[in-house]
Amino acid sequence: MIKKAIILAGGKGTRMSPLTKAVNKQLLPIYDKPLIFYPLSILMLSKIKDILIIVNKGQLNQYKKILPNGDNLGIKITYKEQNHPKGLPDAFLIGEKFINNQNVALILGDNFFYGQNLSSKLLECTKLKKGAKVILHKVIKPELYGVAKVNKTGTIKLLKEKPKKFISDLAITGLYFFDKKVVEYAKKLKPSKRKELEITDLLNIYCKKKQLKSDILGRGGAWLDTGSIEDFYKTSAFVSAIENRQGFKIACLEEISLNNRWITKKQILKSIEFYGKCEYSNYLRKFI
Ligand code: TTP
Repeated sequence: MIKKAIILAGGKGTRMSPLTKAVNKQLLPIYDKPLIFYPLSILMLSKIKDILIIVNKGQLNQYKKILPNGDNLGIKITYKEQNHPKGLPDAFLIGEKFINNQNVALILGDNFFYGQNLSSKLLECTKLKKGAKVILHKVIKPELYGVAKVNKTGTIKLLKEKPKKFISDLAITGLYFFDKKVVEYAKKLKPSKRKELEITDLLNIYCKKKQLKSDILGRGGAWLDTGSIEDFYKTSAFVSAIENRQGFKIACLEEISLNNRWITKKQILKSIEFYGKCEYSNYLRKFI
């Protein structure tokens, strides 16, 4: 069972500069909420309540203004700072104490997931006992992603970062589930040519042991990247289209908490007070 998760919400945000010079990417808006709400909502839909958010050195106060300690959502949020972006597996070195020798999930702060049956898929993934599991999604340009070749049972046979030669069109998304060995394996990694610890190297350790499983987010689901300005606005447009058509919000954290029975309606009132007069508060009012 996975009960803990890390959101990696630091990074340079080079591709989004100058927007990211003063503000971290994950605090910028995807339509009507900060980007960080979306990966956090995915963890909450996975029924994970113990969450470590890793942020850049010096940016802690900004995050705490919007996500203080999780009390308002019936979850526990703790923070750690990353001195500089050393690569994704650095999350397990920074988070060693938090992980405390237990299984753990990792989600990248700039990843957006949406789709029918997503919640049940996520709950299935949190049942992981041994090995690791990743979520795959079909893409048109596999050469831009880390990709995986899988067998019929979903075990990954081969994975490659940005392959020049086609091996598969299934990209490895930014949501990962690991057993407790992950910290030990992360410690063994050496920085790559670009001087970062690489998630592909970490996943390869599991792959070589035939312990890397996968689940596919099919065509009814969406995995969107928000790394570039163009992708950022496309994701915003996607959220706006869905929300204004259906009247349901994507990644309304209080709504998920209420559905999980982690908070009461009284807490929703407090949240409305916290956010103030805005459309998000109007939406929350529907639940009381
Ligand atoms: P990237 O997209 O690899 O990097 P970035 O967000 O800094 O953007 P750019 O490439 O434009 O410079 O990172 C993926 C996510 O992981 C993103 O949310 C930032 C986060 N991250 C960290 O928090 N620490 C790290 O060391 C790295 C590499 C990424």
